Order: sequence, then structure tokens, then C-alpha cells
Amino acid sequence: MAQIMNELKAKINGKNIPIVFPEGKDERIVAAVNRLAEESLLHPILIGPVNGEVHSNVEVIEPDDYAGKETMFEAFMARRKDKHTASEARELLKQQNYFGTMLVYQGLAKGLVSGAIQSTGDTVRPALQIIKTKPGIQRAFGYFLMLREDEKYLMADCAINPNPTAEELAQFAVETGKIASMYDIDPKIGMLSFSTDGSGVTEESIKVKKATELAQAMAPEMAIDGEMQFDSAFVPSVAKKKFPSSSVAGNVNVFVFPTLDAGNIGYKIAQRLGHFEAIGPILAGLNQPVNDLSRGCDVDDVYHLAIITAAQAIY
Ligand SMILES: CC(C)(COP(=O)(O)OP(=O)(O)OC[C@H]1O[C@@H](n2cnc3c(N)ncnc32)[C@H](O)[C@@H]1OP(=O)(O)O)[C@@H](O)C(=O)NCCC(=O)NCCS
Repeated sequence: MAQIMNELKAKINGKNIPIVFPEGKDERIVAAVNRLAEESLLHPILIGPVNGEVHSNVEVIEPDDYAGKETMFEAFMARRKDKHTASEARELLKQQNYFGTMLVYQGLAKGLVSGAIQSTGDTVRPALQIIKTKPGIQRAFGYFLMLREDEKYLMADCAINPNPTAEELAQFAVETGKIASMYDIDPKIGMLSFSTDGSGVTEESIKVKKATELAQAMAPEMAIDGEMQFDSAFVPSVAKKKFPSSSVAGNVNVFVFPTLDAGNIGYKIAQRLGHFEAIGPILAGLNQPVNDLSRGCDVDDVYHLAIITAAQAIY
């Protein structure tokens, strides 16, 4: 953890990336933001009302007094088209998360960290509605960075989509492959299933096979293969027996799960039985990064997620 954070800090250092923190009323957020400002790691924008003393390098914006309110309202209405009446929109923009998300959408900040007080839904929904997914990605998803000594893996989707289609799985695979460079991982992407290379044929394994083919067509330069079981993905001797034609099997370091059940259970087994440190979920697939804290977070969690968010903004 310390090493990866130092690497990410080196990547964002000196760039003064503006990151918005809508929950200025939470003392953990204020403490973390002060530390980020003190270390000049990024440019924190705190949405008021603020609870506590604030470092002089922190920009504080009070939505009620914000001079750009009308421009923001117009940009929101244009983005959301006929989804809200004008009075609904004005009410939504009074909410810190909608206000903060609009700052990111308008380019006044590069990313957002929230969720110390608000639920996942309330943190993530404005981002899905306003920032939206990148071209070519239909659904936002969440990955975990799994760390143990010098081992480093990515696992996705472990957080958002209960039952992705083959197209969506392919998009998660390619996007997670691109994300890998942020963590200095040379991606070998395994599309996981209960079946390896046609050993079990069901609707579920066919979906993963199709996702593999789509992903390979989308990113022919990337090392992607499947469908494969976890042991075929991870253990070279098993891969040799079960999937000898694959150069990816046995060397996988980016694991793409077929469903949210598998992904969420899978990363937790690695965390609890395998004693990996699990960093995330880190939201991916959006035009600009937005990340959700756990409500049980501490100051370190906010500090680390802010560094990750700033790094995402430049990848
Ligand atoms: C992501 C989440 C907040 C969306 O919930 P929701 O607001 O009830 O979802 P809705 O279907 O009403 O969608 C709201 C908007 O977001 C969009 N959206 C929903 N999920 C999306 C996704 N994965 N990617 C992109 N857009 C998405 C919808 O299209 C909709 O847009 P619109 O208002 O323009 O029509 C919800 O799925 C959630 O809470 N997921 C978290 C799952 C979880 O708790 N995981 C725990 C493990 S960490």
C-alpha cells in the first residue's frame, strides 16, 4: 500500500489537480483535505458548510454564495435535457453531490471523492447522470487493486453490475487493461468462468467466451483470453494442462468476473483467506473519475482515495 501510494503520488506531484470533496461537513474529509493541501499533492475544493479549520491552500465553495450558480443550472438543464423540471433541477443542485459533480462536469475540477456521509447510490448517481460513461463503455463498473507483498492484481467488476452482458464484460476487460498502466501492471487479462476453453458449455460460459472474442476484437494489441477457470488463469502448470493454446492462461494479473456475485465474493475470498489488501472499489468507465468512500472510512482512506482519483484524472 505504502509503495503504490508513493508511486501514485509521484505521478500526480506538481500537477495541482483539482479534486472536489462535497462533504465539507465531515471532519474526516476536512482532516484529509488539510493533509493533501499541506503536502501540496493536489488542489482540494471543499464544498461547504465546512466543519473545522481549513488549510489556506484549500478552496472552499459555499453553493448558496457561488457566483456561477446560473451557468451551472443552465449546463445541468442542457445535460439532463427533459429529465427534470427547472425547479427540480434547482433543488438537486442544492445537494452537495450534485453541485460537486457539476463542477467536475464543467471542467472546474478533475475528479470527485464523496461517500463518507452519503450512501453509494447518492454519491454515484449524479456521476452516472451527469458525467456519464466514456464513449464505447455502456456501464460504469468498480474494480479492486489487490496487494500482497510484491504481488499486484486488478479484479473487476466487483461493485456495480449484477449481470453484465457479453458486450459489457468485454468493455470492462479492455478498460481495466488500460487502467493497469496506472499501477505499472503489464496486463494479462483473464475472462473468468467455471469452464476453461469449452470444458463446460452453458449459457454462462458461452457468454464469457463471446465476451473474450469481443474484447480481443476491440483491443487486438492486449493480452486477453478466456473463458477460463481461476486455476487456469493463475497457475502455470494448470494452464498448461487445461488451456495449452493460451499464452495468457497461467499468467493472468487482471481478472474479469462473469457476474457481480462472482466478483464481489472473489475479491473478498482473496482479502480474507488470502490476506490481500483490497483497495477499492474504484469506479471506472466514467468520462471523469468519481469515487465513493465507505461510511466507515477513516482519514487515511479519504487521503488514499483522493490520490487515486487524482491519478485517474491524468490516465
Ligand atoms: C449505481 C447505482 C447507484 C444506480 O442506482 P439507481 O440510481 O437506483 O439506478 P437507476 O437505474 O435509477 O439509474 C440512475 C441513472 O444512472 C444510470 N446508470 C445506472 N447504473 C449505471 C451504470 N452502471 N453505468 C452507467 N450508468 C448507469 C441510469 O441510466 C440512470 O440514468 P438517467 O437518470 O439518465 O436515466 C446502483 O446500482 C447502486 O447502488 N449500485 C451499488 C451496488 C452496491 O451497493 N455494491 C456494493 C459493493 S461495493
